[in-house]
Parts: sequence; C-alpha cells; structure tokens
Amino acid sequence: MHPALLVTVVGLIGVVLGGTPLVNPTVGKVWPCPQAEAPEDTYMIIRPHTFFFNVTRNTCAIVDEALLRYKKIMFPSLAAKKSKYPWRKDDNFRGYLDNLQVVLLTKCEERPYQGMDEQYEIKINSPDAPGEGFLLAQSVWGILRGLETFSQLLVPNAAVYNVNSTQIRDFPRFSYRGLMLDTSRHYLPVSKIKETLDLMAMNKLNAFHWHIVDDQSFPYVSSAYPGLSEQGAYSPSHVYTEGDIASIVTYGNKRGIRVLPEFDTPGRDGEPDGTYGPIDPTNDANYNFLKTLFEEVTTRFPDHYLHLGGDEVSFDCWKSNPNITTFMSQLNITGDYSKLEELYISKLIEIVGNLPTKNGYLVWQEVFDNGVNIADDTVVHIWKNGNTPLIFKEELKKVTAAGYNTILSSCWYLNYISYGVDWHKYYQCDPHDFKGTEAQKRLVIGGEACMWGEYVDRTNLISRTWPRASVVAEKLWSNATITLSTDQATPRLEEHRCRLLGRGYDVEPLWQSFCAADVIDDEEIQNSLEL
Ligand SMILES: *[C@@H]1O[C@H](CO)[C@@H](O)[C@H](O)[C@H]1NC(C)=O
Ligand SMILES: *[C@@H]1O[C@H](CO)[C@@H](O)[C@H](O)[C@H]1NC(C)=O
Ligand SMILES: *[C@@H]1O[C@H](CO)[C@@H](O)[C@H](O)[C@H]1NC(C)=O
Ligand SMILES: *[C@@H]1O[C@H](CO)[C@@H](O)[C@H](O)[C@H]1NC(C)=O
Ligand SMILES: *[C@@H]1O[C@H](CO)[C@@H](O)[C@H](O)[C@H]1NC(C)=O
Repeated sequence: MHPALLVTVVGLIGVVLGGTPLVNPTVGKVWPCPQAEAPEDTYMIIRPHTFFFNVTRNTCAIVDEALLRYKKIMFPSLAAKKSKYPWRKDDNFRGYLDNLQVVLLTKCEERPYQGMDEQYEIKINSPDAPGEGFLLAQSVWGILRGLETFSQLLVPNAAVYNVNSTQIRDFPRFSYRGLMLDTSRHYLPVSKIKETLDLMAMNKLNAFHWHIVDDQSFPYVSSAYPGLSEQGAYSPSHVYTEGDIASIVTYGNKRGIRVLPEFDTPGRDGEPDGTYGPIDPTNDANYNFLKTLFEEVTTRFPDHYLHLGGDEVSFDCWKSNPNITTFMSQLNITGDYSKLEELYISKLIEIVGNLPTKNGYLVWQEVFDNGVNIADDTVVHIWKNGNTPLIFKEELKKVTAAGYNTILSSCWYLNYISYGVDWHKYYQCDPHDFKGTEAQKRLVIGGEACMWGEYVDRTNLISRTWPRASVVAEKLWSNATITLSTDQATPRLEEHRCRLLGRGYDVEPLWQSFCAADVIDDEEIQNSLEL
C-alpha cells in the first residue's frame, strides 16, 4: 500500500474507534514552505543509479561537496536498495528525470554572512523546459537552500522516487535565522554540534549562535590564556580546542551557516546560576586581558559578528567590593551600578571596535536598555519577557525606533518544555507583530531559537531541539501569510518530522503518530542485547 494511503486508513480507524485522529502527513511537501510554488499532479521518475547533477556555469568545493552530501541524503541506501515490489506509474507519469541542471550564476563566495543572497529557483518539467529539471541561483547559498528543497520533493516509490512537476521561487523572509546552543552548563560533543548544523541546514537556518562559555564551565581552549580552560573546564576532555573550533566553523560554513561565538561579559549572576561574579570593571588589567582574548577569538571565528552577551549582570558582587565602591564615588556615580555596567560595556565595545578584524557585534537587550552607547551596526538581541508579548513587542518598537537592527528570541526559548503540544505558541509568534513603521520593520532582521543547557546534554539535545526549532525556522523563512495557521502547518510538520527521523536523527514526536517509513530491525537489536 502507498504510505500516504496507509496513513489515511489508520487515521480513519482511529476515528471509527473513537480516538483522536492521527495527523495525516503530507507527501512531498517542503519545510519551511517555499515563498511561491506551483506543484502539479504530473510527475517524473528518478532512478538513483542513473541520476546525476549536471553543474553548469560556476562551481566550487562548497557546491561539489554539497552535491555528494545530497546524493547520500536523497538515496540513503543506494547499494542495498532493492524493493521486492515494482514501482508504479500511471497517467500522470511524464518520463525519467535523469539529471538536475545546477546553475550557479555568479562565482562562489567562501563564507556565509549577514544578508547573503539565499534565493533560488527550481523547475521540474516546467512548461518552458518540459522533461527537464533545473536549480538556479545567483549565489552558492541559494544553491544550498535549493538542494535541500529538491531533496524534500522526492517521494519514494518502491526502489525509485517520484518528483512532481513544479516551479518554485524561493527566498527567506528574514535574513537572520538562528539557533543558540549553550556548551557551558553542559558540554556538548563536537559530533552533536555538527549533527545540529546538519539539522539547521535541513531547516534552512543560517546562524549558529554558540554560547560557548559561562560561569559554569569554560571549555574554550585559549592559546593566550591556557589557564582559562585548565581551571574553568569541567575536565581536560570537556573542551573545544582550536582544531575543534575550526572544524565546526568549516562544517557550518559549507552548509551556509554562520558560526557566531558568544563570550558573555561582564558575566552573570553569582546566584543561583553560577559561582563567580562579573569581571571587575575598575581593574585596567582586565581590559588588556579582554583585548588579547578577543583578538584570538576573532581569528578563530571569522564571521564579521561576535555576540558580546551583557545580560543579567548581578550587582551584588560589585557591591561587596570596596575597591569598586571607592572607584564609583570618585566618578560621582555612587550606588548607580548600571552606570558602572555602562562604563564597562562602553570600554569593551571600544576594544572590540578597534580589533584588527573590525568586528560588528550582537548584544543582549540589557545593553540597549541601560543606555550604553553602541555602534550603529549593533544587533540588539531581544530575549526577555517570553510570557508577556506586550512587553517584548514594546521592546521591538523601542529598539527599532532607536534605529538598531534586532533579532527576537523571547518567544523561542525552546529549553522551557511542558507536557502537551507546545509548538503552536512558537508558530504564532511573529517578529513583525508590533506597532511600527515600515522602516522599523525592516530593522528586524530575524530571530533565534535558544536552547539553554541546564537540563540538556548530548543525551537529549537533538530530541529536545527538533522538530521544535523547525517551527521557528519556518516562521523565519516563509511568507507570513503561509504561517498564519497551525492547522495547515501540522500535516507538513508531521511529514518533516518523519523525514528527519528517516534521515537518522532522533527528533521527538509532535503528537501521537507513527512514521510509515520508520521501521527498525527490532529483532537484530534484541539479538545484540546481552542476555
Ligand atoms: C503529486 O502528484 C500526485 C498525483 O500524481 C498528487 O496526488 C500529489 O498531491 C502531488 N503532490 C504534491 C506535493 O503536489
Ligand atoms: C550538462 O548541461 C549542459 C548545458 O545544458 C549540456 O550541454 C551538457 O550536455 C550536460 N551534460 C550532461 C552530461 O548531460
Ligand atoms: C582592591 O585593590 C587592591 C589594590 O589594587 C588589591 O590588592 C585588592 O585585591 C583589591 N580588592 C578586591 C576585592 O578586588
Ligand atoms: C564629582 O563631583 C564633585 C563635586 O560636585 C566635583 O568637584 C568633581 O569634579 C566630580 N568628579 C567627577 C569625576 O565628575
Ligand atoms: C506573501 O504572500 C502574500 C499573499 O499571497 C503576497 O501578497 C505577498 O506579496 C507575499 N510576500 C512576498 C514577500 O512575496
């Protein structure tokens, strides 16, 4: 039986027996939903053994490697795949699609960056090119996004694949589509970070915000200050070496994903989160330290932007230090600790602004709220008041009225979990849903899902993050009119969850359901268990 039909029958049985119907997944629908598509009922057949990508115009290693990657994703068991059932065709069959013409119109770029061009076009058996398949893009990033879409159009049909005739024109609604992981509260192995980057690419997310260090542990291995990880990491093996970082940055970049490290200073609350207080802003040696550290960090993370943190600074520690009290009275700011914080951040920003790499930066919203003088190209990261949309919308209004770029995370703290279907609220949150002018709306460059690590390590990172982050990904990519209805998204999200599971990722279920293709060799697993 065709998988879709099987699901329908089981769903109907569920209704007949009086249970809640199962979600009926779509077949061959793309997640996140393309901006414009015109699928038809006619289809072509792709035979894995004869199919190839024909690259014309420009190419480079990023494209070549992506094509190899996507062949594996599309045809996971090329060697073994032999179905005992013959594949089917009917009146809608329009021939074999033996290659996809991959047309990259301009020269490759080496690294993804803020505002890169990600648009692409796909044509399968279109009226102007019957019987052919095209993927066209101006930039290498568009090619990557288009390959992901193409891979999602394939529907298994015994040992071959169907791909419907269609025309797709696609581009992101927001240019910054991020995911934050926290490797301080729990260490995450490099392999899990790379798995996350693969999943990000499969959801067209393009910015990995790496909250790499914090009070809890300091896994970043510095050449300039080796003592930081020697004393700060959980153990000598719970660290990220220069080589680890380079391999993660490269892995992300090849998938069109920027890697933005966060070195959060002056530092967080001593209680209840951590043990140590914020950096002493009155000690000049600390600024020399920061200059040297950030010089090193910016050579390891080549993206133009750094995340400077700046959230939740506790003043209790500063209050307990008599040197700081003296310093403040000399400046006539006795008691005004946010002034002191402002002074610290101003100095930090000056240091970062004068690095040879001329970096830009993101900061958590407190830095803006406290009135620190930040550079014009600063991205203000709004994260507070997730449960009070009125307040974070007001913040969007304020930040954009002041002329700053901003990204929203308040409603996308995925680390807060609950029993029940929790993705609807993520889907209903829209970064443009505030009162502001067109110019203000344009300053909202996107958003970011955050996964803080208090209760997350390698055992549950993937399942807790996905497919919940997929919901945020569609919200940030697709047209706002497409993402109005959770009901309409549900069957596509269900298909996408099954797709990711089928690709080998332990992504959690959305609701009672089953994935037709999710068949494990239970007997073999049982046999491998010890008696
Ligand atoms: C593809 O075509 C089939 C008929 O051949 C149709 O049932 C199905 O809905 C189409 N899929 C999409 C995604 O349009
Ligand atoms: C690849 O595409 C080009 C341009 O359309 C065409 O001339 C060439 O024959 C194609 N190569 C193959 C192997 O099909
Ligand atoms: C205060 O400053 C003195 C002199 O620089 C230094 O020895 C002392 O450790 C400082 N105290 C604190 C709490 O930082
Ligand atoms: C602090 O205030 C005193 C008295 O008003 C003034 O003489 C002094 O210059 C001020 N110092 C600073 C650093 O502003
Ligand atoms: C989004 O969809 C609406 C309704 O179809 C359309 O009017 C609008 O132009 C689309 N936006 C973009 C950027 O394509």
